[in-house]
Amino acid sequence: MLDLVESKLSQHEAFRADVLAGLSQRQKTLPSRWLYDQRGSELFEEITHLDEYYLTRTETAILRRHAGEMAALCGDNVVLLEYGAGAGIKSEILIDALKAPRMYVPIDIAADFLAQTAERVRDRFPGLVTRPIITDFTADFDIPSDIPAHPRAAFFPGSTLGNLGGSEAAALLRRMREHVGDHGEAIIGVDLRKDVATLIAAYDDRRGVTAEFNLNLLRRINRELEGDLDIMAFAHEARWNEPESAIEMHLVSRKPQVATVAGRSFAFAQGETIHTETCRKFDIAALTHAAQRSGWRVDRIWSDPAELFAVFGLRTEARALRLSSAAAQA
Ligand code: AVJ
Repeated sequence: MLDLVESKLSQHEAFRADVLAGLSQRQKTLPSRWLYDQRGSELFEEITHLDEYYLTRTETAILRRHAGEMAALCGDNVVLLEYGAGAGIKSEILIDALKAPRMYVPIDIAADFLAQTAERVRDRFPGLVTRPIITDFTADFDIPSDIPAHPRAAFFPGSTLGNLGGSEAAALLRRMREHVGDHGEAIIGVDLRKDVATLIAAYDDRRGVTAEFNLNLLRRINRELEGDLDIMAFAHEARWNEPESAIEMHLVSRKPQVATVAGRSFAFAQGETIHTETCRKFDIAALTHAAQRSGWRVDRIWSDPAELFAVFGLRTEARALRLSSAAAQA
């Protein structure tokens, strides 16, 4: 409980620091993880049901179809580390397929959301030990020593890897590799490159749910940091950045304006934007190389018939070598 209070206090401080620093940059930028307060998490959940947002239903279908093979890759009695406490359905599909899983460890900075996830999984799998960790998984952290060291597998669905910058993503892949040890696996879901119109529609839906999700960040700033941002004076925009191979979400100032946040004032020119999220779209070769550079070997790639989305099954380099030399001796 003290943990929870402490994490909320430090989260508030981190939010304040990120917002003040982010609004002071030439290209105003806010880290996307702050989109997910209670309301933001609810809006994202709503996004996952939109016609235009193909990601969640496509990934879920891949998981349902291939859960048995993913479970076989992870092996028996595995400790499943999940990076980010998802809305649960994906974790449940994988956990359901695992043979005698030893422990489920959801890792997330959003303490309330994490608690809900843990509750739900405990209800659904009463025999499974569920051991949440409250932390920002994009920063460096160790797995607490009460969690069995092996066998471990990492699960990172939702194309959340695509929200990280290139070096952050590489660091997280390497950290996962360290977390699972020499004989671990990882199951990672990523959205693939495709025609730009489909991508833009997925991030700028007709009903305006994504716009509301993006604007909610300004409401959160107003609520938590004594801001006076005029929500109506900003517009949602989704744009494609080809060199970055990414969809970017921005909030565009509709007019010249000045706003106050936490006692400091920030000027916006008409048309100036706040960059709020980057959603990188992967190609198979690029992610394969990135995984290899972080100490992983690609074991399997599962996809849907239209190849909208891919789920990578990775083994640690040590394990891939051990298996192939065992095969060579047989
Ligand atoms: C939760 C990071 C997977 O990048 O597609 C959805 C977030 N942002 N619509 C994504 C998001 C706008 C989403 N992820």
